[in-house]
Amino acid sequence: MVDVFLDKRLDDYFCAHEWTAVSSSDVARDAVIDDYLNERIAVLHGLDTDRIDFKFLETVRFPQTWGMKKFQFKDLLMVARAGKRGGLYAQVLNDSFAGDEGRFEYFLGQLEIIESIADRVLDRLLGGLKVGTKIMVTRFSETRMENLHYDIDQDSDDHEAFRLYVNLDAYPRIWSTSYTMTNLFRKGGERLLGGIDPNEKSEIILKRAIGRAYGGWNQRATERRAPRHQIYFDPGDVWIVDGRSVSHQVLSGHRVLSIYAKIPHAENPGLRPTFSEKIRGAFAEGLKVPVGQETAEVNYFPPAAITSAPNLREEWAEVFGQTRSGRIRRFDDNGMVSA
Ligand SMILES: [Fe+2]
Repeated sequence: MVDVFLDKRLDDYFCAHEWTAVSSSDVARDAVIDDYLNERIAVLHGLDTDRIDFKFLETVRFPQTWGMKKFQFKDLLMVARAGKRGGLYAQVLNDSFAGDEGRFEYFLGQLEIIESIADRVLDRLLGGLKVGTKIMVTRFSETRMENLHYDIDQDSDDHEAFRLYVNLDAYPRIWSTSYTMTNLFRKGGERLLGGIDPNEKSEIILKRAIGRAYGGWNQRATERRAPRHQIYFDPGDVWIVDGRSVSHQVLSGHRVLSIYAKIPHAENPGLRPTFSEKIRGAFAEGLKVPVGQETAEVNYFPPAAITSAPNLREEWAEVFGQTRSGRIRRFDDNGMVSA
C-alpha cells in the first residue's frame, strides 16, 4: 500500500496498475510505459513478494559507503555461483555478516528471490523494447534527507531512462516529490530559465534549472519553499518513475531494490514523447512567461547562491551514518551549522 499525502498546488501524477493485468495484457503493460513517459509515478500492485523475508532483510546493514550505495547484487551472486570465496564474497561476508556463513547464505538466497522478481518484472515491462544498459542495485544502507532533485543522466537527449524501485525494508520508505520537469519549466518562466543556453544538452539545461529552483546538495535544508507530496512506500511496494522528469527527495529509507534501464531512442523510435522533446518544448514555452508572471513556488536562487555539490563519492560516509554523535545536528539556510 502506498500512502500519498497530496499537495494541491501540484498535479496528482500517481497511477496504480495491477500486476495480473500488466502481466497478461499488452494494453495494460503499455499503460505503465505511458505513465513513465509522461511524468507520472506508476505504482504496481499485486506483484508476489511473499518470498522476500523483510524481517530478515531488516537485520542486514551494509557499510555506509558510496560503493555499497551502488551495490550491484548480481556481481555477488555471480561470484557465489562460481564458487569463488574471496574478493567480493569475503568482503560482504565479513563486513556485513561478521563472518556468519549461515546468515550470509540465507542472504544470498534472498538476493536470488529478489533477482527473479526483478527479472520477471523487467522482462515483462520492457519486453517490447530494445534495452541497452541495465543496472540492478540493492541498497542496504541509509538514505536520509536528500535534496529535492531530478536525476541527471549523461546524454539524456538520446535515450529514455527507466527506473523501478521495490522497498525491501520492513518499514516505509519516505519520499517527497514536487514539480514535474515540464510544469516547473512552464510555470517558472523566464525567471527560472533566462540565460540558460537552449542549445545545451538536456541534462545541462535540467541541472541549471534545478539549481535555480531547489538549490544544490548543500542547500537541502534551505530549500523548503517548493510544494511537496509526501509518500510512504510500504514494504514490497513497487513504483516506476523517470527521475529526470519528476522531482523527488528521499527523506528516509534503509533498504531498496532499484533498477535502471537505458532505452536508446535510435532503436525504439516509438517511445514518445522523448525526454528531449519534453524538456525542449517546456523550455521554449517557459521562456514566453515574462519575469513577474511566473507561478512556480520555488526559491529562484540566483546562480551565484547555488552551492556546488560536495564530492558525494568521497564524502558519503560523512554525510550520513558515521558522523552520528547522539546530539542535535542543526541545519539552517547555510546547510549544517552545528553537529
Ligand atoms: Fe534521484
